Amino acid sequence: MICEEWSADGLDRRYPRNDEPTLRVNFIASADGAVSVDGLSGGLHGPGDKEIFDSLRMVCDALIVGSGTIKAENYDALRLTPAARAWRRQHDLPEFPLMVIVSGSLNLNYQQLIFTDAPVRPIVLTHAGADTSEAAKHAEVIAVGDHGQVDLAAGLAALHARGATQLLCEGGPSLLGTMIAEDLVTELCLTVSPLLVGGGPGRIAAGAPGAARKMSLRHILTREDMLFLRYARQGN
Ligand SMILES: NC(=O)c1ccc[n+]([C@@H]2O[C@H](COP(=O)([O-])OP(=O)(O)OC[C@H]3O[C@@H](n4cnc5c(N)ncnc54)[C@H](OP(=O)(O)O)[C@@H]3O)[C@@H](O)[C@H]2O)c1
Repeated sequence: MICEEWSADGLDRRYPRNDEPTLRVNFIASADGAVSVDGLSGGLHGPGDKEIFDSLRMVCDALIVGSGTIKAENYDALRLTPAARAWRRQHDLPEFPLMVIVSGSLNLNYQQLIFTDAPVRPIVLTHAGADTSEAAKHAEVIAVGDHGQVDLAAGLAALHARGATQLLCEGGPSLLGTMIAEDLVTELCLTVSPLLVGGGPGRIAAGAPGAARKMSLRHILTREDMLFLRYARQGN
């Protein structure tokens, strides 16, 4: 199960598209559990994680990210390498996955490249009470849920209904905390970076505590001191 020799070429088999709808979450944390260094995930990066990050994007139908991460990490438009786009064409997939931004407030910066440079019109996932007039100029809007909260299960179902069943979430912690609480996560791809960051940053999931959920370990990849873990929900 532990593999030190791997290359980007074979990653589509290690992180396969599944027959059933999947919500795969990809995070990086330090060895002592920190989700960021100085407020960003960049300080945690190391050898191999870019290949895995790119490969997970390559195989998904839609990438889902919370508005906090879009802002903090100044997300670019979702672009793929020519090789990744060729892989998608070979597998009868659209050239680019959908990009889905979760926001209840819709306090978004529509001048960010994620909107202005997008190869495919992004989707903003919000709730029924939100004023969507500005968002609708820059994105497709899906509004599900009441009381100022996005109904994430209904949002995922809306994506499934349009054929996007292989969903990748890149965070952040608030969004993941809600997804875990609502029992939506079927896979966790966790990169452990060989750093002790100490107190300050939070964990990969934030929010109210909930029931613990058992996962099963599918593989361990390593490169130098980096560790790449893939967990799937039991039964998946
Ligand atoms: N290490 C890693 O792999 C990793 C990955 C991602 C992010 N991060 C770090 O995490 C930090 C950002 O954390 P964060 O918790 O603010 O990020 P986040 O989860 O991306 O964003 C939180 C925001 O998403 C929206 N949201 C999430 N769930 C919602 C729901 N159910 N209903 C309505 N809105 C919902 C809300 O947006 P509105 O406020 O617009 O309503 C909320 O304020 C940054 O420091 C970033 O660098 C690290």
